[in-house]
Amino acid sequence: MSEIITIANQKGGVGKTTTAVNLAASLAVAEKKVLLVDVDPQANATTGLGFKRSTYEYNIYHVFIDKKKLSDIILKTELPQLHLAPSNIGLVGIEQELAESKDNETKLVLKNQLKEVIDEYDFIIIDSPPALGNITINAFVASDSVIIPIQCEFYALEGVAMVLNTIKIIKRTLNPKLKIRGFLPTMFSAQNNLSKDVVADIKQNFTDQLFRLDNSKKDEFIIIPRNIKLAESPSYGKPIILFDIKSPGSVAYQNLAYSILG
Ligand SMILES: Nc1ncnc2c1ncn2[C@@H]1O[C@H](COP(=O)(O)OP(=O)(O)OP(=O)(O)O)[C@@H](O)[C@H]1O
Ligand SMILES: [Mg+2]
Repeated sequence: MSEIITIANQKGGVGKTTTAVNLAASLAVAEKKVLLVDVDPQANATTGLGFKRSTYEYNIYHVFIDKKKLSDIILKTELPQLHLAPSNIGLVGIEQELAESKDNETKLVLKNQLKEVIDEYDFIIIDSPPALGNITINAFVASDSVIIPIQCEFYALEGVAMVLNTIKIIKRTLNPKLKIRGFLPTMFSAQNNLSKDVVADIKQNFTDQLFRLDNSKKDEFIIIPRNIKLAESPSYGKPIILFDIKSPGSVAYQNLAYSILG
């Protein structure tokens, strides 16, 4: 059985793409077949895996609008077990195109398109844009679960209520099986007291929904550290596991993958 997981938070720059790329790569290295679907017009997951716009003809925009098949756009990556459905800036326009139709069908496009390839993968990871518009709604409707990265910085928890509310609405309407897979504190720095405060807040509010390698150890949950290697690896077109496998950032994302594998 494959599992479809969206990485979402409408706040920008909280580590969604970093999580999507590195969780997908870590699962692939753990011998799972993984499809990473980039539905963000910024296409950061696509470029982060080393693809330049000139190197692929079709992208997820064509799947949303031209009804091109997902299998026609999927690219192979440096990791044999990891495939990518690339994005492109053209996707910006589809928010508008999808919004113009009141029909629920426009919220089901991604779900229907994923049916074609779902049996080929153990995990499908969707990287969503920093917005709760129609593209992210498509991702929620298509998914089994959501991972919410929370940056260990000021006001981090304030925006979380918004994404939780959207998930609640989708659960009530178009996708009753949608679950929250967990909250993931990101960019933690031990030298920063604020970082510690945010983690304490996250623990207090969401303790049962944090990722753990050992569920009996309540105090040991997975936190992604601030690690320069994580910020550098996309410019080399590589997930961290192919860039610096022993770096703290890489180890943390491998632990996240193990936690998800259970
Ligand atoms: N743990 C980390 N340590 C250091 N840098 C990080 C870490 N996580 C993310 N970054 C860097 O922070 C920036 C924002 O991260 P990322 O692109 O993953 O966020 P995002 O939520 O996908 O952003 P957007 O909302 O724009 O899509 C990027 O430059 C990324 O390389
Ligand atoms: Mg992103």
